[in-house]
Amino acid sequence: MTTHNDDVDWDSWPVADYLAEKYRDLHRSDAAVIAHHSTFYRRFAPGSIDRSVEFGAGPNLYPLILAAAASRNIEAVEAGAGNIAYLERQILRGPDASWLPFHALCRRLNPDLPATPAGALAHVDVVHADVRELEPAGYDLASMHFVAEGATEDYTEFTDFCRAFVRCVVPGGHLVAAFIENMPTYRIGPTSHWPGCPVDPEIVTKVFARMTRDLSVTRIDTDPALPDQEDSGMVLLTAVAR
Ligand SMILES: C[S@@+](CC[C@H](N)C(=O)[O-])C[C@H]1O[C@@H](n2cnc3c(N)ncnc32)[C@H](O)[C@@H]1O
Repeated sequence: MTTHNDDVDWDSWPVADYLAEKYRDLHRSDAAVIAHHSTFYRRFAPGSIDRSVEFGAGPNLYPLILAAAASRNIEAVEAGAGNIAYLERQILRGPDASWLPFHALCRRLNPDLPATPAGALAHVDVVHADVRELEPAGYDLASMHFVAEGATEDYTEFTDFCRAFVRCVVPGGHLVAAFIENMPTYRIGPTSHWPGCPVDPEIVTKVFARMTRDLSVTRIDTDPALPDQEDSGMVLLTAVAR
């Protein structure tokens, strides 16, 4: 049976296991995403973006840190209660030490970034909401990491998430995203399983070509340092909404 987004209890997302497996250390693949996105964000003067969104933020701080180089107000929109609590704690008490190397790399590649991770997160508001219900054209820039293809097993629903992502910015608004490439249903921690929708550059290009201009889709190989990888790498995107 195909799992859809509404079939999943996102409140039970295993935040600690996910952080331990993905973000305790700065892996080569995330460093490549940061390098790609830093090139994108360096196009913008500091503070030149009024309002941006992290679409399905999860507990991942590096996209929020990256956006702080350009955006005055960043909304981290997320459905899962555990992820929301984690993000709020990180902003209130200061980010975990594990995020320091991420911030250091982001700042090395874009010196416009605030000097500390806490300074970067001062731009962020955490919003507990369903990304599919965001009002259209509410933002100047939208950023998405591993959400449309990690929130459903259904290609039509994958496309619907991508459409909601593009539509949440104004026409002419800026888009930056990363997708896990060829990711089947995935595991976090010892027991939990989550829906995945295998995508590749061709599928991502096809979905976004109709809705955007200046579309750039590239890919990187999977990180050999990560054991038991079921995916084949990541697909990276920048575009402007039509
Ligand atoms: C694979 S995780 C990616 C998390 C994070 N963006 C990252 O870079 O690690 C998918 C995320 O999408 C969130 N999500 C799934 N469906 C959602 C929805 N309808 N609205 C908002 N967030 C959703 C999940 O709670 C989870 O945090």
